[in-house]
Amino acid sequence: MTAVLDIDRVSRVFHNGGERIAVLDGASLAVDAGEMVALKGPSGSGKSTLLLIAGALDRPDDGAVTVAGTRIFPDRHAEPALRALRRRAIGFVFQKANLVPFLTAAENVELARFIDAAPRGEAKARARDLLATLGLGERFDSLPSRLSGGEQQRVAVARALANQPALILADEPTAALDGARGRQVLELLKGATKSGVGVLVVTHDDRALDLFDRVVSIADGKIVAGTERYGG
Ligand SMILES: Nc1ncnc2c1ncn2[C@@H]1O[C@H](COP(=O)(O)OP(=O)(O)O)[C@@H](O)[C@H]1O
Ligand SMILES: [Mg+2]
Repeated sequence: MTAVLDIDRVSRVFHNGGERIAVLDGASLAVDAGEMVALKGPSGSGKSTLLLIAGALDRPDDGAVTVAGTRIFPDRHAEPALRALRRRAIGFVFQKANLVPFLTAAENVELARFIDAAPRGEAKARARDLLATLGLGERFDSLPSRLSGGEQQRVAVARALANQPALILADEPTAALDGARGRQVLELLKGATKSGVGVLVVTHDDRALDLFDRVVSIADGKIVAGTERYGG
C-alpha cells in the first residue's frame, strides 16, 4: 500500500508565557490510500495541531511529513507550492461547513475546481455529479441557509472531494450533527476511500467507529494504536 500521509516522529512545541508545551512529541502516523483512520484523544491533546501539520497549514519543530509523495517537512517549499499541494492533493472538512452563504450548493463545490483552474463546464459537471452521488441531487440550487446542518456538511464533503484529493483531513466533522446525520457524513467519507482516497478523521463519536479501518489516539504527544483510556 502507498501511504498518502506519512508523519514520522513529529514534534511541535508551543510557548505559553514562560511555559513550554510539547503538544506533539515524536508522533508518527501513516495513512494508506483507501484507508480511513479515526484519531481520538482528549481535548487539548494535539489532534487539531496534527491535522494542521498534515495539511501543511502548520510546521512541526522536528520530524518528517510526506503528503501524496511530496515531502513537505523538513523540505522547505514556498507558500505558492504548498497552496498548490493543498488544492490538488488535500481535502479539508471542519466542524462547521463554512459554505459561502451567497453561493448555491453546486457553486460552493464548483468554486474548489475553479480555483484549481478547471474549465467552467467541467467544474460544473463535477460539482453536480458529486452532489448527486452524495444524495443532494435535489439541492444543487439551494443556498446554504436553506440546507439543514447535515446537508451543509455533505456539501462540505463534496467540496473537499472536488479536486480528487489523495488525502482528506476532517477535524470533528460530525461534532455539530446528531448521531444519524453524523454517521451519514462519515459514510460519505468512507465511500470516498473506495476510489483510493486516504481519510484521517478526528472524532469523538464512538458510535461510528465501526466505519473506520483503524483507530488511533494521541497520548503524551505520541500516537498510540487503539482507543486510549483516560484517567483511572
Ligand atoms: N498556535 C498555538 N499557540 C499556542 N498554543 C497552541 C496553539 N495551537 C494549539 N495550542 C495548544 O496546544 C494544545 C493542543 O491543541 P489542539 O491541537 O487544538 O488540541 P485538540 O485538537 O486535541 O483539542 C492546547 O493546549 C492548545 O492550547
Ligand atoms: Mg481540536
